[in-house]
Amino acid sequence: MRVLGIETSCDETGIAVYDDKLGLLSHVLYSQIPLHADYGGVVPELASRDHIRKTIPLIKQALLEANCAAADIDGVAYTAGPGLAGALLVGAAIGRSLAMAWGKPALAVHHMEGHLLAPMLEANPPQFPFLALLVSGGHTQLVAVEGIGRYELLGESIDDAAGEAFDKTAKLMGLDYPGGPLLARLAVQGDSKKYKFPRPMTDRPGLDFSFSGLKTSAANVIAKEGNSAQVQADIAASFQQAVVDTLVIKCERALLQTGYKRLVIAGGVSANTSLRGQLAQLLKRHGGEVFYPRKEFCTDNGAMIALAGYYRLAAGQQQDLTIGVTPRWPMQDLPAV
Ligand code: KG4
Ligand code: ZN
Repeated sequence: MRVLGIETSCDETGIAVYDDKLGLLSHVLYSQIPLHADYGGVVPELASRDHIRKTIPLIKQALLEANCAAADIDGVAYTAGPGLAGALLVGAAIGRSLAMAWGKPALAVHHMEGHLLAPMLEANPPQFPFLALLVSGGHTQLVAVEGIGRYELLGESIDDAAGEAFDKTAKLMGLDYPGGPLLARLAVQGDSKKYKFPRPMTDRPGLDFSFSGLKTSAANVIAKEGNSAQVQADIAASFQQAVVDTLVIKCERALLQTGYKRLVIAGGVSANTSLRGQLAQLLKRHGGEVFYPRKEFCTDNGAMIALAGYYRLAAGQQQDLTIGVTPRWPMQDLPAV
């Protein structure tokens, strides 16, 4: 089975062709980051308009690179939520319409399920069951995963997502949008013990997160010590260590609670080298293993959508003819496969 995947939920247009026998045949990505950089964040209307410009040319390119014609595609998968309504509608309208024109089934994919399944694209995919830490710009969630569509939400952020905390702190330091990867690069030169940042909600039981207070700690340091290159590097390192420690503590709790020995980390922040390294150490201490996608599949991409769509289409699931999106969509509402 060969599936065309379309991702347009936020500020990247990602298209891919996945074949269950041959693997990923092509994947192309267009990032709108330069378009939004001047505004310090994503401008939804500009995002939608840019997806309109890019989606069809990128589908043509992905088909060409996969060396396949429309007739070779057995199904079309598009992100239907969660995300920006207008941006989602572009991918949904194009994906649903192409599937109808080609006489093939269509599938509305949950963006976070795409992230969660992205490590399945790698050479050593995780076996079920596993614990998943989803850390993106919009979500921070711990999920017990027993199979595809068999998700139990164990904990999530009650305010800012981990990626959002990275981006807001980076913005305070004067870094460009999205600041997460830039802050991570600065952290390499900084002293992670220099400033005392809180490890929010680790002093009480439970698996929820709260990251919105961390930026205040950064703002206080800048107000007191200025924003020199060394202060920036030390804030970056101290902030990053606070986020990583918090995530490690909660992952350990969740591993003990579930008894699972496998941890999947996915979503944009799973590209963070320090987080990957420290979670790998945690799993080593527990005699388990950590799994994550290659860096380009940590952030938004079409490959994870094609893959998630494939699993559901192969199980006979498909979308009716409605062009619909679900900007708010709990992952636990998905049907099992
Ligand atoms: O998954 P993603 O591409 O989009 C959403 O679904 O939200 O995640 C984007 C987020 C941004 O907040 C970005 O700053 C963060 O992931 N991010 C990182 C790193 N790379 C991307 N945060 C920390 N360290 C990184 N290396
Ligand atoms: Zn994402």
